[in-house]
Amino acid sequence: MVWSSLLWTNWALGLFGQQQVISGPEHRPQDSYASVNSKRPNVVFILTDDQDLHMQSLDYLPLIKKHLLDQGTFYRKHFCTVAICCPSRVSLLTGKAAHNTNVTDVNPPYGGYPKFVSQGLNENFLPIWLQEAGYNTYYTGKLFNWHSVDNYHSPFVKGFTGSDFLLDPFTYQYLNSAYQRNRDAPVRHVGEHTTDLLAEKAYGFLDDAVKEDAPFFLTIAPVAPHSNAQVNDLTENVGGKNYEFRAPIPAKRHEHLFKDVKVPRTENFNPKEPSGVNWVRGLPRQSQENVDANDHFYRQRLRALQGVDEIVDGIVSRLEQHGVLDNTYIVYSADNGYHIGQHRMQPGKECGFEEDIRVPLIIRGPGVPKNATTDIVTTHTDLAPTFLQIVGAPLRPDFDGEAIPLSKAGIQEATQKRHEHVNVEYWGIALAEGKVWDSPKIHTNNTYKGLRILGESYSFYYSVWCNNEHELYDLNTDPGQLKNLLARDVKVEQQTLLGFPLTKVVARLDSLLFVLKSCKGRTCIQPWRALHPAANVENLHDALSPRYDHFYEVQQQRVEYSRCEAGYIVDAEGPQFERDGAVYRHGTRWSEWV
Ligand SMILES: *[C@@H]1O[C@H](CO)[C@@H](O)[C@H](O)[C@H]1NC(C)=O
Ligand SMILES: *[C@@H]1O[C@H](CO)[C@@H](O)[C@H](O)[C@H]1NC(C)=O
Ligand SMILES: *[C@@H]1O[C@H](CO)[C@@H](O)[C@H](O)[C@H]1NC(C)=O
Repeated sequence: MVWSSLLWTNWALGLFGQQQVISGPEHRPQDSYASVNSKRPNVVFILTDDQDLHMQSLDYLPLIKKHLLDQGTFYRKHFCTVAICCPSRVSLLTGKAAHNTNVTDVNPPYGGYPKFVSQGLNENFLPIWLQEAGYNTYYTGKLFNWHSVDNYHSPFVKGFTGSDFLLDPFTYQYLNSAYQRNRDAPVRHVGEHTTDLLAEKAYGFLDDAVKEDAPFFLTIAPVAPHSNAQVNDLTENVGGKNYEFRAPIPAKRHEHLFKDVKVPRTENFNPKEPSGVNWVRGLPRQSQENVDANDHFYRQRLRALQGVDEIVDGIVSRLEQHGVLDNTYIVYSADNGYHIGQHRMQPGKECGFEEDIRVPLIIRGPGVPKNATTDIVTTHTDLAPTFLQIVGAPLRPDFDGEAIPLSKAGIQEATQKRHEHVNVEYWGIALAEGKVWDSPKIHTNNTYKGLRILGESYSFYYSVWCNNEHELYDLNTDPGQLKNLLARDVKVEQQTLLGFPLTKVVARLDSLLFVLKSCKGRTCIQPWRALHPAANVENLHDALSPRYDHFYEVQQQRVEYSRCEAGYIVDAEGPQFERDGAVYRHGTRWSEWV
């Protein structure tokens, strides 16, 4: 088999077994490789594509409930930081915010596999670090957009002991996929279901992995429940606008399920009044025919996810048969969330609303509390640090996230101490998937910075768009994010929030976002320290002290854009914290920019 000869090549090149050069934590055994492997845990990481948390997809996945929710911990406040596949996956696999990878789109020039490569990240991402830590690494399914039948070998993806990738332009065709194994040529699978193919590939890698001495890290990345997307003109680019998006296609055996199920009718579902800002605010209310079609779209997603539910069952039973279940972490998440009908939007992602940024995260494994939930705030930038911590490798100083606690004690401690913010960002377009109704398929200028902040007594989403519109939602009183407290027609001066004038709260949120939008490393984890180096302010509550009124309301620069760009073009993004400094400059007052 090709991969096993690769394995030997890697051994010969010394890519494995380098644990002696890494200064690991004290528990890393320094003796023979075999004894290292008898103790170090395996990891299976399952990453779905576009799976929502808010539309209750987890309620329809009984095997995930049985094996993961009942046997592990559900991190209920887990977020992606950029609500689209490729940027989110790159962020996840590097531990960095999208503004630090500068892979901000699914397509070139700002994103996709070629941008991942040109940013040097193919030499510097999670599987490489795992191999350096002595792990065998396997990956099957979708990696990044624009990773295609044309460029898969120039260069090959690095860092995997064994890989079998879905490739564009067939990635999203449930019954017409192309998989590409190790260094082999891509293979087309006309008429076979992509998730069933994936299951066999995943089980195959698992069987290979358990035969080896080294511990393993296996990633399974199904395309479900992403839309079925077909390219109409193959002579045109593979990743772009020629895709026709339709509801996902489940396996035959799941087609009949959930006949009466509809998108949950939350108050923000196709509301009477428009909501949001920018293009969202201009959307027409959906007709009954449109709503019915979107309910079908929703059911197809739930049906398409059944194949993933079965993979979780298949993996758990095989881990059990091999006697390694107790020494294996299983981590389940999705690259970004999804909306259907909320705020009148057609099926899609790419927004800062809760539906799009909040995603499932479930972890089971040694020491992880069973049948437990936690409300600590975690993000995709925390996953690479978490994985390195699990395998006992040193964390990297340039991580923008921090390891997620997995033990009961760790989670309890984090409940008191862990940060409360999520740094959300986006550049480019928003796409309406499914049939085109009476609003455009593509919305440009979908460029914004967002801040999600969840404390003991508050839960806000604050954002600034590239046209300088502002949004602020109080999710404790308005979970559907329907009342923008900074809407142009709201008398901001007269509002209060948390017992303070609204403007005082906004000044703090804006300053926090100002730091986060270009943060690096520790500053992304402890942004208040950048504003208060004396470390006497750790959260929004502390920052609201009247002694900081002048500091926040007068001395700080404001988040603002000079224009809309589809990528991370710094000079369109106003003053910069690192470059221009935060304090002792006369910024614009809130009243001038709302
Ligand atoms: C999980 O916990 C809930 C209550 O918190 C309980 O009702 C349920 O039986 C538990 N499930 C399992 C599998 O332990
Ligand atoms: C998008 O933003 C650009 C630059 O800021 C502006 O010129 C253009 O009119 C905007 N387009 C739309 C559709 O709003
Ligand atoms: C991000 O990449 C784009 C496209 O290559 C480039 O134009 C831009 O300057 C980069 N931004 C930063 C901050 O490096």
